[in-house]
Amino acid sequence: MIKFGNITLPYGLALAPLAGVSDRAFRRVCRACGADFSVSEMVSAKALCYEQKSKKATRSVTGLLASVHADETPMAVQIFGHEPEFMAEAARLITANDYIGCVSEVPPSAIDINMGCPVKKVTGNGEGSALLKDPALAGRIIEAVVKATHLPVTVKIRAGWDKDSINATEMARVAEASGAAMLCIHGRTREQMYEPGVNRQVIADVKAAVNIPVLGNGDIYTAADALSMIEETGCDGVMIARGAMGNPWIFSEVRAALAGKTYTYPSHTERFEIALAQVREMIEEKGERVGVAEAKKHLAWYCHGIEGAAATRSRIMQASGYAELEKIIREFADQ
Ligand SMILES: Cc1cc2nc3c(=O)[nH]c(=O)nc-3n(C[C@H](O)[C@H](O)[C@H](O)COP(=O)(O)O)c2cc1C
Repeated sequence: MIKFGNITLPYGLALAPLAGVSDRAFRRVCRACGADFSVSEMVSAKALCYEQKSKKATRSVTGLLASVHADETPMAVQIFGHEPEFMAEAARLITANDYIGCVSEVPPSAIDINMGCPVKKVTGNGEGSALLKDPALAGRIIEAVVKATHLPVTVKIRAGWDKDSINATEMARVAEASGAAMLCIHGRTREQMYEPGVNRQVIADVKAAVNIPVLGNGDIYTAADALSMIEETGCDGVMIARGAMGNPWIFSEVRAALAGKTYTYPSHTERFEIALAQVREMIEEKGERVGVAEAKKHLAWYCHGIEGAAATRSRIMQASGYAELEKIIREFADQ
């Protein structure tokens, strides 16, 4: 069990922030499958702040990314940036639940700060994992965000920038001293990007270095991976990213394993019904064109590992609308 702020996570099981993936529809599916916390796609603090100044903005994409519905809490909205003042202002706007493009029913339960994104477009601005190279600035950002919101502030870091500068323990101490309420540590360096080879020792070192709860992250694809992550590192819970894509039931599987039980996956037919409901929700929120385009990768992941998946995946990619997607999926499920 994890407690931070006034949030309790009975199983310590979190869906990771996933740009282009962890939208509301997917977060809801993961919650229904047993995740007890989720994190939004990353939101640019500066973009959110600038959109407030734009007179003609009627529908803000950034605002939509930051919006939270009541039935998906507890969840965090993740922000990224490198300027303490923009990060603080974004946290203030999100906490007040009042910004252009806001369709939130409620503010999020927490604000998460991205200090792990390895993408050049982000690190080139000194944001995401680039902050691992400047713990003092990272600390000022966390302090500024903590001051700007009454919500708990969580921080997601990596092991370090590269193998010669592993400093997650220092970063974790800075985060705790600056007021962070929980940490997630992805046990890879920025240099590793998403290559195999998660350093669980670094996660164990971070856990030993701080008193706030720590989530271990990296390469959890099965319940056995989750249990061994907890056992080997002492982490308080796990955050799952790619292992949940097309397989939100991994959260049920881990819950069962934590209770010493085995989990029986739903039938293919049941799984595809859930997948199609997720697609309908994406379309409702984003419109048919964007919803269908974004749903294709999810449906392809749901097909993974099932006989005939390759041919079905290419049909999915060529489909022109929801009706066609549904037909393809139903035919595949009936096989
Ligand atoms: C498609 C994709 C998008 C991601 N987007 C984010 C993001 O917005 N914010 C973030 O902190 N991490 C992001 N990550 C990193 C994941 O949250 C996670 O730390 C990483 O994938 C390692 O976990 P895994 O091995 O379980 O996939 C992303 C990863 C992927 C694959």
